[in-house]
Parts: sequence; structure tokens; C-alpha cells
Amino acid sequence: MSAQFDLSEMSAPQRAFFLSRARHICYGGARGGGKSWAMRKKLELLAINYPGINILLLRRTLPELRENHVMPMLRDLHGIAKYNATDKTFSFQNGARIVAGYCASEADVFRYQGQEYDVIGMEEATHFTEEQMQFLTTCNRTAKPGFRPRMYYTCNPGNVGHAWVKRLFIDRAYRGREQAEDYAFIPARVWDNRPLMERNPEYVDTLANLPEDLRRAYLDGDWDVFAGQYFTEFRRSLHVCDPFEIPAHWTRYCALDYGLDMLAAIWCAFDTSGNAYVYQELCKPDTVISDAARMIRSAGGDGIACTYAPADMWGRNRATGKTQAEMFAAEGLPLTMVRNARVDGWLALKEWLRPLPDGTGGQRAKLCIFSTCTRLIHDLPLLQHDAHNPTDVATEPHDITHAPDALRYLFDGRPRHRIALPAEGGLDGIGNFLEYGG
Ligand SMILES: Nc1ncnc2c1ncn2[C@@H]1O[C@H](COP(=O)(O)OP(=O)(O)O)[C@@H](O)[C@H]1O
Ligand SMILES: [Mg+2]
Repeated sequence: MSAQFDLSEMSAPQRAFFLSRARHICYGGARGGGKSWAMRKKLELLAINYPGINILLLRRTLPELRENHVMPMLRDLHGIAKYNATDKTFSFQNGARIVAGYCASEADVFRYQGQEYDVIGMEEATHFTEEQMQFLTTCNRTAKPGFRPRMYYTCNPGNVGHAWVKRLFIDRAYRGREQAEDYAFIPARVWDNRPLMERNPEYVDTLANLPEDLRRAYLDGDWDVFAGQYFTEFRRSLHVCDPFEIPAHWTRYCALDYGLDMLAAIWCAFDTSGNAYVYQELCKPDTVISDAARMIRSAGGDGIACTYAPADMWGRNRATGKTQAEMFAAEGLPLTMVRNARVDGWLALKEWLRPLPDGTGGQRAKLCIFSTCTRLIHDLPLLQHDAHNPTDVATEPHDITHAPDALRYLFDGRPRHRIALPAEGGLDGIGNFLEYGG
């Protein structure tokens, strides 16, 4: 094939992107990894190989589209396809088309209403909202026998679409009719891009010199961090662990955040050195108090020292004269009041997450979350600084605040007492007598 389709320098992830057969294929991570290159070549080759195929390539704004895609495609497809600047369409002799589009405003996606595209490519997918992505998915259909419609995504961590890309491709937390096998993620690393490393090795230095959160997003392709993130100290490698059996003598607590929109409860155990392990969570929308109390009790009522809840649950309801706390107690789940001091609570949580030297040159954390607590692990790194009060956490998007709120109540409530437990031998036992409050 001609020079513009020289695939000899393809990296392993680019190859994986080309070969994936999933319905949704995301090539994401570091900048400069060769994502846009792979997207462009893949779509061009599909058009050349499938007569009559209809492809949509999207970017958020028109200038980005022109600069990053239309111009290189004009070079790639010289003598292969004709470009019509009015409708931004490349037409191939075999009847295939690549339409280059953009969605500057939220409503711009509706321009594609009623259209049918066999393949859709979303460049910088994290610049699109989840609603835009969902709408575009409805346009991704095919009438060609034997051809499977598919969507390709390229992106870096960060921006408005960070949460949905992370949910679908990193956390793999599926809802409704989403199927795990439909989603494939290929991590991009700048080091994989040999042509770039050879021509422009100082590019890595530029990325390495960015401020910490941008560096982690753009150089390391780390999805647990993005600009505006509150808990920048969160690391999957430090704060998430495989589940294990909690020793019977460790103290266990539960804490809950209750609202009709969402009940979030978490369970946490403390070892004899004062390390915390979140070992269970329960998150359920639209739950009345009687059901909430029953579910929490059956999920793990035994051996719990107490169940913490924020002070506002002791506010009296004008109509019934009862407090939510009384109603929980009447359902067999007495609650223990904690403050709802947001900033203090979040800062204490930051302290719990702070990486510490592990004594062997590595790092460890005082707080670990069992990998089964997918909701908390998803929500915690997504929380953002409040725009007006940066030491507080933003209350939007609201649905990611419930599980972290419950965790905050837990650390506010857990008594900072000295505990004297059976020493587990040697000097380790000394830790038992130290105060270890958050
Ligand atoms: N397999 C490849 N062969 C030749 N050049 C490549 C290849 N992959 C990437 N490049 C070049 O490397 C540079 C960065 O790639 P790009 O796709 O823009 O990265 P990203 O979109 O991940 O930031 C571009 O100039 C691109 O043309
Ligand atoms: Mg790119």
C-alpha cells in the first residue's frame, strides 16, 4: 500500500486498537501516544476496505477538527478520496464516506438525529458529555449484512467526560443494558510512540514538567487524577486492596448517608495499629427508611461497634414530629450522631489517604478500600474542589458524593481513644497504645 499507509511503525497498543472487535473501543491515556494517528488510519482503512460504508469522525469544535483531522486526512487521502468542504465529507470511489463533524454545543449532536453511521469515531472523547455520547450511540447502526457497527474513542484523562469514560472503560461499572464484553480499553503511553520519541524526545520532558495533577493525567495517563480533583493523593495501587477475612478482634463501624435519592452505607474495620479497611459498601437509590434499616442490618449488623450518621438526621420532621434517627432506631438500627463539618471532615480524609513511607523504600497508606467497594473507589477520585470554597468538595455532580460523605462521617465519629487489645507480639504491640485518631 502507498506511503501514507505505512503501518510498519505501529506500536503494540496501536495494533491492539486496530484489531479489537469490541463494540466500543477506547484508546486513552497519555498525550502523544499516537491515538489520533491510530483513529485516523483506522477510519481511512475501513473506508477503503468496505464499499459504501458511512463513517462519522467527531471532535468538539470546528477549529480542532480542521487542524487535527481534516488537514492530515487531506494529505493521507490525496488521490484516494474527494473532499467536499461544504459538508466536510471525504467521498471514496467505492461509495464509502467519512464525514468530519463537530459538536460545539450540547445540542449540536442533534444534527446527527436520524442519521445512520456504521462507524463513529470520537476524538478527545472526554470533551463530550455522557448525554452526547449516548445520543451518538443511537446513530451508530448499520444496514450492511455482516458488518458490526462500532464506536472508536480516543482521549486523555480530565474534562467533562472524564467520569463516563472512566466508568465504562476503567472501572467497568456497568448499568442497565451495558455489557462488559462490549467495552475494550487500550492504554496509551507516550513511550510507545517510537516515531515521536525519535523525532521529538524532549516532548516527554515537557509533559514531565507539568504541575503534578496534569503530569499524572497527560504523561502517566492516570485516570484517577484530573485538574480540579480534590483527593489528588488517591492511588489505586495504594488505597485499593484485595478483600481478606477481617480478624474477629478488629473493631468495626458502619456509617451512612441517607437521602431518598440515595442510601450510602460503608463498613470499616480498624486493625490493632490503627489502619483502616473499608470492607463493604451498600448504595441504593429510592430507599425508604424501613427498607434501608433492614438492608443495612442484613448486610452486616453483627459485631458493629456503632453506626454513624450526620447530625441533620436528628432534625425533627414538622409533619410527623419524628426524626430520621428515631425512625431508624424504631427499625432496629440505632444511630450514633456525628458532626457534619464538611471541610474538617474532608481534610481529615485527605490525611487518611496521604501516602506514608512503608519502611522498605516504598509507600503505604493508612486507609485501604477492598476492591469490591466499587462505588466508593469510583467516586472518591472524581470529587472536585468547590469553585467558591476550594477547601470544600463540590456538591456536584451530586451522585458521586454519597459514598464519600458516608466515609467522612465514619472518620468523624470513630472515637480517638487509646485502645488496649491483646498485643500481637513483640514491639508491634506498642502501636496498640498510641492514639491514632484521623
Ligand atoms: N505508527 C506511527 N507511525 C508514524 N507516525 C506516528 C505513528 N503514531 C503516531 N505518529 C505520530 O506521532 C505524533 C503524535 O501522535 P498523535 O496521534 O497526535 O498522538 P495523541 O493523539 O495520542 O496525542 C504525530 O505526529 C503522529 O503523526
Ligand atoms: Mg490526539
